[in-house]
Amino acid sequence: MVVLGIESSCDETGVAIYHSEHGLLSHVLHSQIALHAQYGGVVPELASRDHVKYLVALTDSALQQAGLMKSQIEAVAYTAGPGLIGALLSGACFAKSLAFSLNIPSIAVHHLEAHLLAAQLAEPSLKFPFIVLLVSGGHTQLIEARGLGDYHVLGDTLDDAVGEAFDKTAKLMGIPYPGGAMLAKIADDNFSMHKTPLPAFPRPMLDRAGLDFSFSGLKTHALTVWNASDKSPDSRAMIASAFQTAVVATLLEKCKRAIQQTGSKHLVVAGGVGANRALRCALKTLMEQLSGEIYFPSIEFCTDNGAMVAYAGCQYLLADQYDETQAVLVKARWPLEQCNVSE
Ligand code: KG4
Ligand code: ZN
Repeated sequence: MVVLGIESSCDETGVAIYHSEHGLLSHVLHSQIALHAQYGGVVPELASRDHVKYLVALTDSALQQAGLMKSQIEAVAYTAGPGLIGALLSGACFAKSLAFSLNIPSIAVHHLEAHLLAAQLAEPSLKFPFIVLLVSGGHTQLIEARGLGDYHVLGDTLDDAVGEAFDKTAKLMGIPYPGGAMLAKIADDNFSMHKTPLPAFPRPMLDRAGLDFSFSGLKTHALTVWNASDKSPDSRAMIASAFQTAVVATLLEKCKRAIQQTGSKHLVVAGGVGANRALRCALKTLMEQLSGEIYFPSIEFCTDNGAMVAYAGCQYLLADQYDETQAVLVKARWPLEQCNVSE
């Protein structure tokens, strides 16, 4: 089966082609970072228009890279939510029209399910059930993945998502949008250069039972420490390092609890913050200690991309579980536990 996947839920336009036997045939991506940078955050209307502008050209390049003609595509998968409504509509309308014109199925994909299945792209031997730490710009969840479309959320953030906390902390220290990855780099460089003790940062929610998270207090703490500092590059690096250390320690402890609570020995890390080097190292060590296995998507498939959508769509096509409706249905909010639209 050959599935074209389209991602347009936020500020990346991704198009990819996945073959059920030969794997990923192509994937292309257009990032809108430069477009939104001058505003310090994603401007939804500009995001929608930019998706419309690039979708046709990206689809042509994905087909060209894969050496395929449009007529060889057997289904079109698209991100139907959650995300920015206009951005989702741009991708969904394009995907539905393309599928309609080719007389092939269109498959609505849940963005978070696509993220968590991305680990199987790198590691096809990964089978259900497994635990997922989903850490992105919009979500922070611990999930028990029982099967395709069958997910149970074990813990969630009560306020900011972890990627959002990275981005906001970066912004308040003058690191340009989207600062999360840059803040992580500054923290890593500081860690390898200095061995002086870091300022003490809280470890939110660790004193409470359960698997929920909270990151907004950590961001506020960073602001207080930053405002009291001399605001030099050294202070920025120290605070970045202390912030990242606290985030990683919190995520690590909650993952440990989830593994102990469920008895699962397989942990998947998904979403943009899954690209974080310190987090990857710490979780790897944890799973070694617990004699378990850890799976990461490759770095390029941690952040938003079309490959994870094509892959997820292909799994639904193979399972013959998708909604045949011609209507364009997108959802800005869409709980992961309700992701199987064919039910
Ligand atoms: O999954 P994603 O591409 O988009 C959403 O669906 O949200 O995640 C983007 C988030 C952003 O908040 C970005 O700052 C964060 O992932 N991110 C990182 C790193 N790379 C991307 N956060 C920490 N460390 C990184 N290396
Ligand atoms: Zn995402």
